[in-house]
Amino acid sequence: MTAGFDPATPNMARGRPGRSRTAAGDLPAAAGSGPRNRAFITHAATWAAHEGIGQFIDLGAGLPATPAVHQAARKVLPSARVAYVDIDPVVLSHARALLATSHGVTAIAADLCDPAAVLADPELRAVIDPARPVCVILGAVLHFLDADAARAVTAGYAGQMAPGSCLVISVAGFDDECLGKLLAEEYTAAAWHNHTPVDVTSFFAGLELVGPGVTEAQTWRAWMPGPVMRHREAHVLAGVARRAA
Ligand SMILES: C[S@@+](CC[C@H](N)C(=O)[O-])C[C@H]1O[C@@H](n2cnc3c(N)ncnc32)[C@H](O)[C@@H]1O
Repeated sequence: MTAGFDPATPNMARGRPGRSRTAAGDLPAAAGSGPRNRAFITHAATWAAHEGIGQFIDLGAGLPATPAVHQAARKVLPSARVAYVDIDPVVLSHARALLATSHGVTAIAADLCDPAAVLADPELRAVIDPARPVCVILGAVLHFLDADAARAVTAGYAGQMAPGSCLVISVAGFDDECLGKLLAEEYTAAAWHNHTPVDVTSFFAGLELVGPGVTEAQTWRAWMPGPVMRHREAHVLAGVARRAA
């Protein structure tokens, strides 16, 4: 067994074995939120690469998905470099075995809540130069922090990003307050916070929102003039913002 891994303990990357409703995807209203989130991350990374951003930091990277960020970015910029960051030992062993297999891709163990330590990590610095534009991704992870803590984290990265960098955020949430409460109660891997569109917009403070601003993840495209916000029981809210060059 991997050190620090208990298969019986609910976990942010894997939910929990068995039939308990412990992750957003286990609630019928949230069905499909995982694929919608991954499609958004892929669109955003592809857009960033088309903008000429050749470095990516994927914070709370999670278990490997297809396409992974480096695969999406390298379709556009074959030399793109990516640091996957996670705190979960099983995620990291998968990332090291399946993602960090080529030059310019690394997977590091770090707490994303400490931006200074993450950005100073020698393994990250081996592939990422913070003096150059970077795409920082916080996909489906800020709902584990309350809004104040999430703002502190995003401000920590935004304040250290080189001009021309971008910040990509998605969070899962519920318009239906009852479902939001249900998930918060039943999700035992971590605290769960049901962020509003206003909260998510505040996570981009000091940056310029790209395209539609904060919108439903499945609709985000850089060229969209405004957000699409239908009432839904469950949704993934997403946005991308840029630090002025
Ligand atoms: C729901 S998964 C999201 C995976 C991926 N980013 C995505 O968008 O599909 C959340 C991930 O964040 C990681 N995570 C949670 N808190 C973290 C922290 N403080 N530092 C680093 N990773 C963290 C978990 O281990 C998990 O792998």
